[in-house]
Amino acid sequence: MIKGIDHLAIVVGDLDKEIDKYRDILGLTFLGIEVVEEQKVRVALFDVGGLRIELIEPLSEDSPVSNFLNKRGGGIHHVAYEVDNLEDQVETLRQNRIRLLNPEPGKGVTGSRIVFVHPGDLSGVLTELVEKKK
Ligand code: CO
Repeated sequence: MIKGIDHLAIVVGDLDKEIDKYRDILGLTFLGIEVVEEQKVRVALFDVGGLRIELIEPLSEDSPVSNFLNKRGGGIHHVAYEVDNLEDQVETLRQNRIRLLNPEPGKGVTGSRIVFVHPGDLSGVLTELVEKKK
């Protein structure tokens, strides 16, 4: 079951510069920075009205978000839904022939487990499913 939106992710080229804008000009609550080695990204976390905004900067050219940044110069990258049970949700997608980019759950921020759904099977939107650390 999907419980709500966990976060919206925005890819940026210069994380420190963008943090200043989101924190000091937009006034979002800055929660901190995490490096997700598995995805080769540095992530700045913000809270706005209980919703998390993540700014994502690739750490290397072979990061999954490098292509996106090079092609589009950044922008909204994916929407992430929080689910209560990742395996159940993945099974439902499989039964409905909706493809996953990583069938085996990977590691997200704050110890969460994540899978990405193929955008070609879901409205052209890269969609992440997140099960929070229990
Ligand atoms: Co995400």
